[in-house]
Amino acid sequence: MNALTRLLGTRLPIVQAPMAGAQAGAMAIAACEAGALGSLPCAMLTVDGMRAELDLIRSRTKQPCNVNFFCHVPPQPDAAREARWRERLAPYYAQFGIDASKVPAGPGRSPFTSASADALEDYRPAVVSFHFGLPDAGLLARVKSWGSKVMASATTVEEAIWLETRGVDVVIAQGVEAGGHRGMFLATDPAAQLGTFALLPQVVAAVKVPVVAAGGIADAQGVRAAMSLGAAGVQVGTAFLLCPEATTSAIHRAALRARPHETKLTNLFTGRPARGIVNRVMRELGAIDPDAPAFPLATAAIAPLRAKAEAAGSGDFSPLWSGQNAAGCREIPAGKVVAALAAGLEPR
Ligand SMILES: Cc1cc2nc3c(=O)[nH]c(=O)nc-3n(C[C@H](O)[C@H](O)[C@H](O)COP(=O)(O)O)c2cc1C
Repeated sequence: MNALTRLLGTRLPIVQAPMAGAQAGAMAIAACEAGALGSLPCAMLTVDGMRAELDLIRSRTKQPCNVNFFCHVPPQPDAAREARWRERLAPYYAQFGIDASKVPAGPGRSPFTSASADALEDYRPAVVSFHFGLPDAGLLARVKSWGSKVMASATTVEEAIWLETRGVDVVIAQGVEAGGHRGMFLATDPAAQLGTFALLPQVVAAVKVPVVAAGGIADAQGVRAAMSLGAAGVQVGTAFLLCPEATTSAIHRAALRARPHETKLTNLFTGRPARGIVNRVMRELGAIDPDAPAFPLATAAIAPLRAKAEAAGSGDFSPLWSGQNAAGCREIPAGKVVAALAAGLEPR
């Protein structure tokens, strides 16, 4: 037992990272049953979809579980920027015979709202975690009022202090190695983001709440390193991507096997920097483009290209989220990944 397991009620100080688009309830159940904190990512689920997954989780495990949300403020659409971006994509639309005028604009991922809170209250999960800051004070107070512990990602010391000041129970220190979206919300420059083992001890020194290390941790040695730098626990995502419980697409799985060391931060797929395996569109346009519409609006313009390419078996236009340490990805059940990570908690 340590400060984290006491707080979360889990057997192990290991969090199976929420991974929108790559897993749902089945992964959370397997991780929970193995003693970790399993997570349900809700950024790409409707409220009804979230209810269905939470019903499934509740029917299969009595262990504490984490429900995860993005909490960005939806941006005002910017017609000029959208037009510039579609101009950049025009040669690809032409190549696939897509009529650009018929590509709808619109959001790609939803933030935590009062409707999410209304549904979540019926389940009162042990833990709720947020990415991109926190929801407004009223919504956060609601989540805390029914007893859920709150975790949130920080990518800088300033963000960690900001989160602690607003009452989070656990700070997740997300280093730049991490797969998927950077949780950055005060920081704006992806190039200035810190690696996990530089960020972690500085966050540990700056806040009193338990700190969970995330980014590049994929095996027992990584867990041991994080704990020896003051982490109260670890959050691991990429190492679960090839598990049978993951919903990682066949194209994404193939890229993880073929090019696990070739990742970059990119904003082309959603508008926010996120780490994924380099593919054709990242190579040809450059991984970061200032014209990509603000998160999550960029999702819409690339969606038909992704659909056409995927239908032909190609990941050239797909977000292939992966951390820098995908070498830890194995095609084994999630419970076995948890057990392998837990070996790093044993005394030598
Ligand atoms: C495929 C994928 C999807 C992700 N989606 C989310 C998400 O929905 N919510 C979230 O808070 N973090 C998300 N993350 C980030 C993880 O929470 C975590 O920070 C990261 O996986 C840790 O680094 P690692 O991938 O090197 O283990 C995602 C990561 C990956 C790889």
